[in-house]
Amino acid sequence: MTRIPLIAGNWKMYKTEKEALEFLKVLAPIIEGCKPLVYLAVPYTMISPLAKAAKKINVVIGAQNMHDANEGAFTGEVAALMLKSAGAEFVLLGHSERRIHFHEDDHFIHRKLIRALKDDVQPILCVGETEKEMEENKRDEVLKRQLSGALTGVSKEDVTKVVMAYEPVWAIGTGKTATPKIAQSAHHYIRKVLQDLFDAETAAKITIVYGGSVKPENIQDLMKQKDIDGALVGGASLNAQSFSQIINHC
Ligand code: PGA
Repeated sequence: MTRIPLIAGNWKMYKTEKEALEFLKVLAPIIEGCKPLVYLAVPYTMISPLAKAAKKINVVIGAQNMHDANEGAFTGEVAALMLKSAGAEFVLLGHSERRIHFHEDDHFIHRKLIRALKDDVQPILCVGETEKEMEENKRDEVLKRQLSGALTGVSKEDVTKVVMAYEPVWAIGTGKTATPKIAQSAHHYIRKVLQDLFDAETAAKITIVYGGSVKPENIQDLMKQKDIDGALVGGASLNAQSFSQIINHC
């Protein structure tokens, strides 16, 4: 089963529109003809201008969050259809910063995932254990709960549209990358849970990317692992040089 490598940047709450357009200008010539799919999850306000600029260079623009309702009295929130009409093709769901700082639970993430699939915005579902959970040997339990919480009731056909991102919370923005062996073991376990929830053929089709202090220096070893299909990159995606090096090392 060949899965196309995917490198996704997550800009979090960084960059103005001017800086973002500048970034694309620098990135374009250095990733021309690159092998992986390139995604960028950007702040809401930049989706529309960046989606237009990114079309010419084969970079797919997406959002970092959405609400689960299709519309309504939810001040400050944004719906999947609004993201789509602005030019977003994917959305990050369940990022640990949303789970921790905004108290998003598996139920809410599940409802968002169903809405995103219905409105044709590809979900990237983030899962991962905290440092405490890792130390207490609860990684598998946490991954299983987050995956089944978000994916129960999703059809086999729909789940193959979802990208899974394994992001151990202890490795995000800390400089502590999971070793390729640790990351592979988590990805293998995620694929096993997907196999149990769906079937082996479906699980083999699903792209699983790793996130947590990915840099040009560690991407190659991570990509050599059987179940690692790409990366979700935070800090190193803010600089066009480091992001392009990660892309070109795949
Ligand atoms: P990082 O962030 O690469 O800065 O660790 C990853 C993420 O939060 O998606």
